[in-house]
Amino acid sequence: MQTILLTVVVVSVISAILALILTFADKYIADYGEVNLVINGEEPLIVEGGDSLLTTLRQQKIFIPSACGGKATCGYCKVKVLSGAGPILATELPFLSKEEQAENTRLSCQVKLKQDMTIEIPEELFNVREYDVTVESIVDVTDKIKRVRFKLPEGETIKFKPGQYVQIMAPAYEGNDEEVYRAYSIASSALDHNHIELFIGFAGGIGTTYVHKYLKVGDIVKLNGPYGDFYYQDGEGEVLLVGAGTGMAPLLSILYHLRDNKVERKVRMLFGARTPDDLFALEEMKMFEEELHDFKFMPTLSRVTEEMNWQGDTGRVNNSIEKYVEKGENLTAYLCGSPVMIESIKESLAEKDIPEDHIHYDAF
Ligand code: FES
Repeated sequence: MQTILLTVVVVSVISAILALILTFADKYIADYGEVNLVINGEEPLIVEGGDSLLTTLRQQKIFIPSACGGKATCGYCKVKVLSGAGPILATELPFLSKEEQAENTRLSCQVKLKQDMTIEIPEELFNVREYDVTVESIVDVTDKIKRVRFKLPEGETIKFKPGQYVQIMAPAYEGNDEEVYRAYSIASSALDHNHIELFIGFAGGIGTTYVHKYLKVGDIVKLNGPYGDFYYQDGEGEVLLVGAGTGMAPLLSILYHLRDNKVERKVRMLFGARTPDDLFALEEMKMFEEELHDFKFMPTLSRVTEEMNWQGDTGRVNNSIEKYVEKGENLTAYLCGSPVMIESIKESLAEKDIPEDHIHYDAF
């Protein structure tokens, strides 16, 4: 028995060492030379082989969403690879549906450029640009959420749709030796092409630790975008905004859009928090209640005590849907929050007979 165990341990150690050597050799010794990269049938780009497709595209100033910094944990960096990628890797499988696999969708952070490659990417990604933005202000809106306002460089502008997101780069800092990009929804008005505001909650990861512990007013930060297919769409009927925590950001940007464009729709916003201290942007909510055609901000708190003297709704946001949404109402919902919250809100809306194609969501 002991001999078998020892053999298993020895084989495992040798395999691990071999894998490490192969990774090291591939990274530092292998020379793939120049390869042709064909994008959307255009003239081939001649690029240095050896890097991931994601990194190579970034070097060509083509920015693919990549919220996990290339670690195969976000699934954002999908592109269609028509040739030259080799078989799908185990790290990609959890993020690719059967249909995506059949149509050659891959995670660009996992695909290495070792030979000529042909890919397809959505045209809108060619509009994504990277900016060196300056931190203009940082405000603690709760004990865990900061509102950060960035100014674009003189003469540069950004165009985005209300609800979309950008990525900012967290550089190396004490305890973190790699640069990573992290995604955050835009909170500011899409009419302001010179500034971007984000709500960034502390979650203990590389990106939020950088923002909460190291970022200062005056710092220059790399920001790229805009990204995302979650954004306000013109239409009829009521608009229902539902969020919690930093999910406030895209909803706020949508509210600015509705105000700036004098949209005459009934708008209700349900917002979940634990205590009154977790509520923020209340001045803006009051302003929207005065300036929008028909708007009400309806927060609900899940952990109130008598001493808090809270007069509003209590419980989860689902309770508010139960209470305020009419069955079969003509409304379009925009949801932003954790995947668990989004799933349960979708269920509550389904119980109210709100059709699936009237529900847009951004889970983070
Ligand atoms: S960058 Fe996150 S999975 Fe590729």
